Amino acid sequence: MYSGPFETIEDFMARALHDPVRGYYARNIRSIGARGDFTTAPQLSEAPARAIAAWVARALRETKTRHVIEIGPGLGTLTAQVIQNLPFTTSFRTRFHLVESSPVLAEHQKSLFGKKVAHHMSILDALQSCSGEAVIFSNELVDAFPARVFRKNQRVWRELALDSLMKEVLLPPTELPPSSIFRIPFEENQTVEVHDAYRLWLESWLPQWTRGEMLTIDYGDIAERLYHRRPQGSLRAYLLHQHLHGAAVFENRGHQDITADVNFTDLVTWSQPWLSSSPSQSFADFIHAFSKSSDSHFVEAAAHFRVLIQKSAR
Ligand SMILES: C[S@@+](CC[C@H](N)C(=O)[O-])C[C@H]1O[C@@H](n2cnc3c(N)ncnc32)[C@H](O)[C@@H]1O
Repeated sequence: MYSGPFETIEDFMARALHDPVRGYYARNIRSIGARGDFTTAPQLSEAPARAIAAWVARALRETKTRHVIEIGPGLGTLTAQVIQNLPFTTSFRTRFHLVESSPVLAEHQKSLFGKKVAHHMSILDALQSCSGEAVIFSNELVDAFPARVFRKNQRVWRELALDSLMKEVLLPPTELPPSSIFRIPFEENQTVEVHDAYRLWLESWLPQWTRGEMLTIDYGDIAERLYHRRPQGSLRAYLLHQHLHGAAVFENRGHQDITADVNFTDLVTWSQPWLSSSPSQSFADFIHAFSKSSDSHFVEAAAHFRVLIQKSAR
């Protein structure tokens, strides 16, 4: 781990997003939603929730589990819609668990759902309360993790950091995190992101998950397509529905969302010791398969989203 005079972009993102007092997710719950900085899928249409509810009902039936865990529910819009769209016979015998790391958002979720659902600060707590057996889903969770950023410089990948004036600096080459992205023959100066903190987080709890299926929804793509025509990478910020790139990403610490596209090839590889995965698919195909919806307005908006379905392999 780097410990020099500069701040890695990953450390900058970790503080900007998750500092318990000044972080973006601690500050202002209005930041997500129509009047906030960005909109997530459930604010645009109920089609995703209908499809997710159908998937949850099937996964509960097939894995013979009675617990559902949602990680990172945010304002709880998707949670409410999924619960509403579950068949009565399923919701009747199912216990819903929410895992939320932001204390402000956790309070908001408690005020919305009260004791109808169980609230947890960590996935390990949630798994413990259901003896490791649960169907799990998340929407736009992976991209809320800080990312390590690398640039190809004289044929060598070097990590990016920030100096005291918030200008980018290249760190000396070191060991790279295990990512499929480094196997792709990019041109000089290509910038890429790796959600290595998500990998470490997965490794901290997957061994405790003994039965169930998991659905991961986020924007991104498989490694081969992720940076097509994007030499500058995908790191960006959102402030009042504006997309910010370059130096503007590092301004207004804690007041704007910072994010990067998710590499679905990495999600599959990282969880291979514990999970079996179906090939990731487009969100539109998932919605069509599980809800037969033809909400064309939403399907267009969801074009950059992908879905990964995985099963605990024990
Ligand atoms: C972009 S929001 C997505 C909100 C919601 N899923 C939706 O679709 O509207 C990301 C959410 O993940 C939460 N989060 C980030 N890291 C987390 C972690 N390690 N454990 C639990 N929640 C986390 C954030 O606090 C926030 O609620």
